[in-house]
Amino acid sequence: TGYITLDTGYKNTGATMSAITFLDGEEGILRYRGYPIEQLAEKASFIEVAYLLIYGDLPTQDQLDEFISSITKHTLVHEDMKQFFEAYPAQAHPMGVLSAMVCSLSTFYPESLDPNRSAEKKNRTILRLLAKLPTLAAWSYKNSMRHPFMYPKNEYDYVKNFLYMMFAMPTEDYKVDPVVVDALNKLLILHADHEQNCSTSTVRIVGSSQANLYASISAGISALWGPLHGGANQAVIEMLEKIHNDGGDVDKWVLKAKDKDDPFRLMGFGHRVYKNFDPRATIIKKAADDVLEKLKIDDPLLDIAKKLEKVALEDDYFKSRNLYPNVDFYSGIIYKALGIPSEMFTVMFALGRLPGWIAQWKEMSEGGEPIGRPRQVYTGEITRDYVPITKRG
Ligand code: CMC
Repeated sequence: TGYITLDTGYKNTGATMSAITFLDGEEGILRYRGYPIEQLAEKASFIEVAYLLIYGDLPTQDQLDEFISSITKHTLVHEDMKQFFEAYPAQAHPMGVLSAMVCSLSTFYPESLDPNRSAEKKNRTILRLLAKLPTLAAWSYKNSMRHPFMYPKNEYDYVKNFLYMMFAMPTEDYKVDPVVVDALNKLLILHADHEQNCSTSTVRIVGSSQANLYASISAGISALWGPLHGGANQAVIEMLEKIHNDGGDVDKWVLKAKDKDDPFRLMGFGHRVYKNFDPRATIIKKAADDVLEKLKIDDPLLDIAKKLEKVALEDDYFKSRNLYPNVDFYSGIIYKALGIPSEMFTVMFALGRLPGWIAQWKEMSEGGEPIGRPRQVYTGEITRDYVPITKRG
């Protein structure tokens, strides 16, 4: 069968060619379709970036208007899906709910199951998903409190509409500080794509079997949930809270992270590809300062995070292994300032990553990539004869 190259964790294996996101881990460069992340985070809207990732270029005003109006046509979810929410226990983690809900969309839109449907129908699947994810995400939160669901308000833009469905109550007028909308817009842009990371590779590999888009994205959401990937943002805030409640002695926790007999890792530190700095973390760190100042919030967790970063960056263990704060290190502090509870942090990541997943799925399916099927190096028994149960042991 020829030679197999073993590369556990795909540390050095290119699984695809892609024209979506450029990442240089040595230089700390991240670009979507050639545009530097710094410029997009500063100037663009999330929905513009979604268009850019999925269709390849920044939209003209007409294209953007058309894109937004096509999305808003689909923001409602089928009323029957409300019953699914109600069946979950109140303490259900919203990532579990979201993944299941997204997969369930395929049962409501069976046309999505046909891999040979027209390009127009494929695009409709994409628009539906972009439109419905904020509704499903916000409802998973409302459901966790057993609060009434808020229906989407299509006159609001994508980000404000999500915040409305998360935080509005039918009994009150909804007001939101534009600082909150802008901060969330920036965070979503920073999360929108990151080439062949764990969840994106999952989306591509599931999609390569011609499974439908909803099923592929649901698998991506599940992959994102893990604490070594997107779940790190929730784990970071929980770690900072623990350090704070433990008296704020960051040296003690750095020591723990270095101890190879202790499974504890500094959450929000390290990255498979970035070996100097994570450009998203640089932007988010500054945004955390800005947002807390503008909202007049004094969060002791921000001080702990900064102290931890300083101690770790000066420590030989972290320096020699090129471990720097990643995108998840400061994002939770901003989410917290925006009033988003920690179990929703990874859902926010999923909301941001959705356009990237869709773009990668579309690129994979339009490029006619073969089914993803890694090989292995077998290490088990060579051959054995069956032994009746009475003769074993
Ligand atoms: N704390 C302490 N030690 C660490 C950490 C950490 N956060 N990250 C890596 N190391 C050590 C690791 O023990 C290993 O040491 P040694 O060479 O002595 O065995 C060395 O650094 C290399 O680590 P690795 O696990 O082989 O590296 P990887 O590329 O397989 O893993 C990672 C990358 C991000 C999973 C890892 O750095 C990690 O677990 N970080 C904490 C979780 C986290 O913040 N994840 C978010 C990643 S960025 C956004 C996203 O993907 O969602």
